[in-house]
Amino acid sequence: MCGIVGYIGSQREIKGFLIDGLRELEYRGYDSAGIAILQGSQLQICKAVGKLENLEKKCSSLVVHGFGVGIGHTRWATHGKPTELNAHPHMGEFSYVVHNGIIENFKELKEELDPSKFVSQTDTEVIVHLFERELERTSDPFQAFERTVSKLRGSFAILLITKAAPDTIFFGKESSPLIIGRDGEEIFFASSDAPLIGNAQEVYYLEDGEYGYAQKGSIRLFRGGEERVPTFQPLTLNKELAQKGGYRFFMEKEIYEQSDVIGETLMGRVKENRVEFEELDSRFFQGIESIRICACGTSYHAGLTGSYLMERLAQIPTTCEIASEFRYKEPLLRPDTLFIVISQSGETADTLEALKMAKKAGLRTLAICNVDNSSIVRLADATVLTRAGIEKGVASTKAFTTQVAVLWMLALYLGQGRLDQETLLREIDALLHLPGALKVRGELHERLKRLSKRYLHGHGFFFIGRDIFYPLALEGALKLKEISYLHAEGYPAGEMKHGPIALADPELFTIALMPRNLLYEKIKSNVEELSARDATICAISSIPFELADDFVKIEKQKHAMLEYFEMAVVLQLLAMEIAIRLGNDVDMPRNLAKSVTVE
Ligand code: F6R
Repeated sequence: MCGIVGYIGSQREIKGFLIDGLRELEYRGYDSAGIAILQGSQLQICKAVGKLENLEKKCSSLVVHGFGVGIGHTRWATHGKPTELNAHPHMGEFSYVVHNGIIENFKELKEELDPSKFVSQTDTEVIVHLFERELERTSDPFQAFERTVSKLRGSFAILLITKAAPDTIFFGKESSPLIIGRDGEEIFFASSDAPLIGNAQEVYYLEDGEYGYAQKGSIRLFRGGEERVPTFQPLTLNKELAQKGGYRFFMEKEIYEQSDVIGETLMGRVKENRVEFEELDSRFFQGIESIRICACGTSYHAGLTGSYLMERLAQIPTTCEIASEFRYKEPLLRPDTLFIVISQSGETADTLEALKMAKKAGLRTLAICNVDNSSIVRLADATVLTRAGIEKGVASTKAFTTQVAVLWMLALYLGQGRLDQETLLREIDALLHLPGALKVRGELHERLKRLSKRYLHGHGFFFIGRDIFYPLALEGALKLKEISYLHAEGYPAGEMKHGPIALADPELFTIALMPRNLLYEKIKSNVEELSARDATICAISSIPFELADDFVKIEKQKHAMLEYFEMAVVLQLLAMEIAIRLGNDVDMPRNLAKSVTVE
């Protein structure tokens, strides 16, 4: 998804800062990039299609010393193809803009403007021409920007620079994240924390409807015509955490990290004989009769797992829905329902909109999220943070396992009044064994590396499981397809004979999740049916399975959830090793973006 950076100051080389900042946003996915730097009346602009190296090469002759203002952008195409003309910054006659989001009324606005001025197919370009038209009318750059922003509908984070006010960056935000950072007189902008780490000392997360302008050492912030004072907070994140640390890919680092990170997720929450959430008030849950969970992608798979756990442990009827489906199905929402949204980024457009619908209908809302201060966190009534740290790999790994851990704890938190003591203690004991279950064992990784070479062809994969292992099968299939580009499907094992078994032949790879602690005999007979039809079976279990063509042995765990987490790691590693063998960039798979802030 698109990324934004901006800088005002003289302390550092602006071009270097902008490109480094964009590099920090690379993980979000992009297909073109550009920067614009203004020093007095001198403008330098540079854009390129493809990776940032292309941009760097193109602007290698561009040297900037001394004070200046600069904006940069990585674009993930929505309106118009990924071409240089469509890349940001977009130009007017003397002004330049970068934008994240979608201007929904760009066609109407364009009709008011001179069509001969437009060179791109984007919605963004309308902003810069509108600004210049308003400037002709008011001759005050801030007033012109204020009027421009007031006419825009949709979602946007905007930075605009203009020769009419060459020491200034104008900014505006609506439903798309934008952060201002500062360090003394230097001012920074970015669409997420990563480019600011190690640069800004303190940050302000803009709220929807806020806009204003920044000049050397000063920021003026407005909303609805009223001036406001931004409340900056220290930026405490550590750059180390955002780097690869010796692993081949961020995804690999993040898979290995899970065992430590989960400790953070559990910390202070799992007590000797109960689960507590400091951030939640138990009165918040009073009178709750049902739960609806809503999310997208991997977060949806965590949510679906959570729906089994809620019913089983908290004994509350629970459903889980895909946010983009929920939004338009005209759902019946009852005020005694707890609405839970799950999101790694906290910015996913469909999940955010579903949350807005639930709030509007008067439901109590709870976010399970990895990014504090994200749009979803700010909107929900209550939040439980997953504490996974920055996740850079586009394919979600540690965000997923921490989401499931939070849901498991939440199910116990809501169920602890009803569950018998023995069950509760068994669950708590299992929770405390989570770091061990998520630890990557060297020999297991080696085995999967070797095994991966046998799975590079075929006409497709079926990942099958039952109960909570069904959502895990969905997640295993998603991981594989998003980074290997091989076709994979997750399926409830018991459903195979209702149709998909027709596909069974030696070129159909079945990855069978066979936990010893949950419905082992049932899944075993489902796998036997597939084996009898000559499907190639890769079984993941702690119990050797003689009909398997390949067998991945996990530890003999005493709780199904521990098997679940260990198998999650196996599936992540298997997908990664297959994708690496196929020569793919697993951190930045084609066509994907880390944070999906458009519908
Ligand atoms: C897959 C993946 C996506 C996200 C989905 C929702 O590996 O990462 O499917 O899970 O785009 O994103 P969040 O969790 O940020 O709302």
